[in-house]
Amino acid sequence: MSEIASLPTGSRVRQGSNIGQPLTRRDGLLKVTGRATYAADNNPEGVLHAVVATAAIARGRVAHLDVAAAKAHPDVVEVMTPDNRPPLALDPDAKLHPFMFRMDLLQNDRVRYAGQPIAVVIAKTLEAASEGAMLLAPRYEAEAVDVGLDGESFVPDAVGPGAPAEAESGDFDTAFAGSPKTIEATYETPPQYHNAMEPHSIVASWDGDSVSIDMPTQGLAMAVGRVAGLFGIPAENIHIRSPFLGGGFGSKGMPAGPQMLGIIAAKMVGAPVKLVLSRQQMYGPVSHRGQTRQTLRLGVAEDGRLTAMEHLTLAPTSRFDDFIEPSSNASHSLYAAPAIRTSHKAVRIDIGTPGFMRAPGEASGSAALEGVIDEAAFAAGMDPLEFRLLNYAEVEPISGKPFSSKALRECYEKGAESFGWARRSFEPRSMRDKDGRLVGWGVGTALFPAVMFQAQARAAIRADGSGLMETGAHDMGQGAWTALHQIAADGLGLSMEETEFRAGSSDLPDAGIAGGSGHTATAGLALHKAGEDVIAKLTELAVNDERSPLYGAGNVGVVARNGRLVRQDDESRGEGYGDILKRAGLSEIEGHGEGARDPSAAESHAMYAHGAVFAEVSVDPDLCQMRVTRLVGAFAAGRVINPRMVESQYYGGMIWGISFALQEEAVHDKRSGRIMNANLAEYHVPVNADVPSLETILIHEDDPHVNALGVKGAGEIGITGTAGAIANAVWHATGKRTRRFPITLADLIG
Ligand code: MOS
Repeated sequence: MSEIASLPTGSRVRQGSNIGQPLTRRDGLLKVTGRATYAADNNPEGVLHAVVATAAIARGRVAHLDVAAAKAHPDVVEVMTPDNRPPLALDPDAKLHPFMFRMDLLQNDRVRYAGQPIAVVIAKTLEAASEGAMLLAPRYEAEAVDVGLDGESFVPDAVGPGAPAEAESGDFDTAFAGSPKTIEATYETPPQYHNAMEPHSIVASWDGDSVSIDMPTQGLAMAVGRVAGLFGIPAENIHIRSPFLGGGFGSKGMPAGPQMLGIIAAKMVGAPVKLVLSRQQMYGPVSHRGQTRQTLRLGVAEDGRLTAMEHLTLAPTSRFDDFIEPSSNASHSLYAAPAIRTSHKAVRIDIGTPGFMRAPGEASGSAALEGVIDEAAFAAGMDPLEFRLLNYAEVEPISGKPFSSKALRECYEKGAESFGWARRSFEPRSMRDKDGRLVGWGVGTALFPAVMFQAQARAAIRADGSGLMETGAHDMGQGAWTALHQIAADGLGLSMEETEFRAGSSDLPDAGIAGGSGHTATAGLALHKAGEDVIAKLTELAVNDERSPLYGAGNVGVVARNGRLVRQDDESRGEGYGDILKRAGLSEIEGHGEGARDPSAAESHAMYAHGAVFAEVSVDPDLCQMRVTRLVGAFAAGRVINPRMVESQYYGGMIWGISFALQEEAVHDKRSGRIMNANLAEYHVPVNADVPSLETILIHEDDPHVNALGVKGAGEIGITGTAGAIANAVWHATGKRTRRFPITLADLIG
């Protein structure tokens, strides 16, 4: 923790005005100099290495493992299998709440997907553990597998984290039947894997009934809860450090099964154990975005107004759990159709359970929705942007609620202006560059709900006038520590340097989950409130002390500024924090805050971040090779705490949109159920050469409803809208409407 506490704070700024400053990352220097310690960098005394052996079949049972051969290896210490795995206090298949994903923790010899852990080999070295895992030479009884979407489907109880699978406003059937124009199209999106640079890893050491853990996680408190449940120990016995993550993208939201196996292994051998997944092992047991087949039907009036909209999603879940990609939800909020119907159906197939991956639902759902909206615009003879503006939702269509704020119109305007959209030709295949390549321009609308979880924070002001703020927040690379530190410093009326900010440990107050793009809003609100609380307590001390220049100032009001409390009506009258505490004989004064959505605001308003993405592609007319040559994204996500971090989130999201549109796809072998490209050589993601110069435009929004800070969330919205904008640009360039992602040469040739 000492290294974390002494992180450099980036640029120096004026006190009390840290929010809104484009500070560089606090942890940037540590990262570029290799001093940032990730979980797998920890090497406690006597650490042993564990390697997971994984199933090569997708369904059946493990008939034999050559445990004797593995144990005969001189450096292998133990082989953990279903036969000798220590008992757990909770069945790994128990599901006590929707966020609790079922795990494969060697509970039996069944294989439920390719890549499932079937044994763990613990050895003195990583090499020996790897060799031991190979020596197990499993024999299987394999059963027939299904990894497609054509099996029997069912309506799940809920989608995503507990949203209803079906929703309707108005009467879709009647409205659609009475529409002068109708559009129907089916879009498909592939399975995608998070592929964080840092594999899922863990270093665990037991001391009696207490366990000390280093692991990357987006949810420290959730992880503590899972460990407590599995091992039947109290939460205070569990200490998890997660100062840095090499990316999470949702896959580290809930602890992964293999990480729990590392803890079990450490208990079994009575020594610290390190377990790190290989790249290939990240395709299976650590969740992914499931494929989807989405059918949309739109009714359009003569004037181009939408009359009816239906969005059906068919998506897989595993044989043993229930998460599906909730794509249809993207159609609840974007376009003003008087009748909307959305639904989801699930199919059980032989895969690891899908889960949260970067804008779960909205990313894949908007890819399909933005395509079909583009189809409708063309059928109506309208410019795609004009069509979107005509069907602009002034209230949330599915619920009728007003938006807490919505500057989407400004996003469209500013984005279009910067992109030069007015020069777009209407007909597809009508624009070329100077080299004769086909050029296409497309637009997509971006949207993501402004989610909040629950968080706590602790604040202290010390007798030396400095401050401390604590919350167990997670920096996955998105810059949360920097942005939260800014909120913390402003909450105390101090500079960044005067405010010590601690995060990244389960020993600190629960910061909620770093997911749903809600971390800054949630943990930030907790910090803000903790600041208010400690300043209020300090004010109490001062205004009731007749030796203070603030004595009796309670009625006129006191503000905290530059490390001083001053009278609101006369800022020259006041005193420093340290003086107040010293006179009271206190070494510090403490405050607490909680961050959560106000339920009445949530009841009365729909809360979303919005954006508009404009894409240009260039396509070789003979070879059909596609390049994204320009992307402009304008986003409105409430108040921006740190424009540099937020811009960087949008860049990342838009690059992921390029990836979604043109590159990413996990390919299953239909016979074996195995993923054929479980590596970064064949699972394509963009490199710099695939990324054009990107432009982001930050549109300011004042939102009095989302939370006291006015923060919505910027993490995931960039991927939404972008894939659709690129696909629409490909259509505009070539005249070929592709309805399957990623778009490949094969879709365009012929
Ligand atoms: Mo995100 S998919 O909530 O990390």
